[in-house]
Amino acid sequence: MRIVVARDYEELSKKAANILASQITLKPDSVLGLATGATPVGTYMELLRIYNEGDISFSEAVTFNLDEYYGLDKENNQSYYYFMMEHLFKHVNIKHKNIHIPDGRAKDIQEECIHYESKIAKAGGIDLQLLGIGRNGHIGFNEPDVKFEAETHLVTLDEDTIEANSRFFISPEEVPKQAISMGIKTIMHSKKILLLASGEEKAEIIYNMIYGKITPELPASVLQLHPDVIVLLDEEAASMLNKNRTS
Ligand code: GLP
Repeated sequence: MRIVVARDYEELSKKAANILASQITLKPDSVLGLATGATPVGTYMELLRIYNEGDISFSEAVTFNLDEYYGLDKENNQSYYYFMMEHLFKHVNIKHKNIHIPDGRAKDIQEECIHYESKIAKAGGIDLQLLGIGRNGHIGFNEPDVKFEAETHLVTLDEDTIEANSRFFISPEEVPKQAISMGIKTIMHSKKILLLASGEEKAEIIYNMIYGKITPELPASVLQLHPDVIVLLDEEAASMLNKNRTS
């Protein structure tokens, strides 16, 4: 794991966008794994700025999102489809057929999951996977007690995740209880991974992810086994790492 500490959220977003922009520059037909949540919002904003200056093109890029709430329509403003359209896709020259997000309203979820995996494989696998991290250490929607060998599947959300994500809904009751998520195996097969974390509330989980034992109880800890991971933090999210250095 390579740990990079940015001064603040703004610098973190710039660094993350530069990494994504470099990936597309070096390999215009890159397969990007994309993430939602509050953390990557600044990254997408910065990526749009780079795009608007004419420095990158998405014309050959292919994307796969990590997850989607089960049961939400694409038009629902809390769906991850809606999020991605608003924050990135509708502003750039990506081909619609190259955008992939699990369909939360698919009639046959099992079939949708298998199909999603085969589309990733057919695209040649993910070149660069962007990740955030949940307060409980989840990546995508792979909650504690995850099966490391799982591919894309239907997950039941933790109470803690429902509570954390209720900030985006009118009330916690409105947060879907299930989601379709790439599995840990899918994520681990990505060639390169960029995990972002910002703010003090992520400091402890980041410390445990990096220095703790590898356990399904902390899904992101499995990233210790991946050969090419960049953990990009702001100073607050990195604040407990310094303690480790002095102890
Ligand atoms: C959601 C997403 C995750 C994301 C996490 C953290 O649950 N499924 O992919 O990493 O939230 O979100 P935030 O960046 O808002 O803390």
